[in-house]
Amino acid sequence: MRSTKYILSFAAILCLICAVVVSSARVALKERQTINKQLDQKKKVLGVVGLFDAGETVSPDEINQRFADNMRAKLVDLQTGRYVEASDDQLANFDQRKARQDPALSTTVDANSAQVRRVPNHALVYLKMKSGEIDKLVLPVEGKGLWSTLYGYIALESDTNTIAGITFYEHAETPGLGGEIDNPAWQAKWPGRKAFNGDWKPAIDVTKGSAGSVEDDPHNVDGLSGATITGRGVGYLIQFWLEEDKFGGYLANFRNGSLDGGQG
Ligand SMILES: Cc1cc2nc3c(=O)[nH]c(=O)nc-3n(C[C@H](O)[C@H](O)[C@H](O)COP(=O)(O)O)c2cc1C
Repeated sequence: MRSTKYILSFAAILCLICAVVVSSARVALKERQTINKQLDQKKKVLGVVGLFDAGETVSPDEINQRFADNMRAKLVDLQTGRYVEASDDQLANFDQRKARQDPALSTTVDANSAQVRRVPNHALVYLKMKSGEIDKLVLPVEGKGLWSTLYGYIALESDTNTIAGITFYEHAETPGLGGEIDNPAWQAKWPGRKAFNGDWKPAIDVTKGSAGSVEDDPHNVDGLSGATITGRGVGYLIQFWLEEDKFGGYLANFRNGSLDGGQG
């Protein structure tokens, strides 16, 4: 028979060894996780402008190259709707979600349907370039679904109104229900629809049931069957981020060509 002291010491040493192993693994893998997360983000941004297909197998180097060749990152001051000077390093390391949680770097907003509580003062947008011109704008969006906050991007054509695509990179909605926001078939219903009405007020919405064609019903997208709440959340969150005091002001400046150095 082992003594109680022996058993307790054995258990304590085992716990200590396990704790050291787990925390070492966490520290050792952190950098790799960060790199993979950034890579995944780049795939989503490339995907929303049609430069990456979810089924494609490409090396990390190829993704980085494609991103560098086609996309330009910019920091936007949401209050002024103008670009903020930022080094490549600052752009690469800007963490919008962290900024949104920091009272010094974000602002509280009134209760809204997207259930967003704070908006970062600066937001990271991506410009898709084509022959030296800005072809599309990619804006980060977030808001509540049914169970979780949905994080994604909306891409607009350079008219700042026609939707080029929508994608999500993080959420915890139910697979097969709210999780259908990731379904390429549902995402394919967005391109060509119009984000704003004639007065430049956000107008795009997710209906319950089927929407009409892009031409006949440009401001509505099909709802998700059995997941009305998630679908409605997507509509609300996009409307929220397109409002004048979010990306609306920036998009107006872009349209008017009044951004520093023209539209670039
Ligand atoms: C286990 C379970 C998971 C669900 N997950 C979602 C979801 O992710 N998103 C959603 O909108 N509704 C989800 N629902 C359904 C909602 O509770 C609600 O009934 C639905 O949004 C209403 O949509 P409908 O009018 O299209 O049926 C879920 C229901 C159950 C029972």
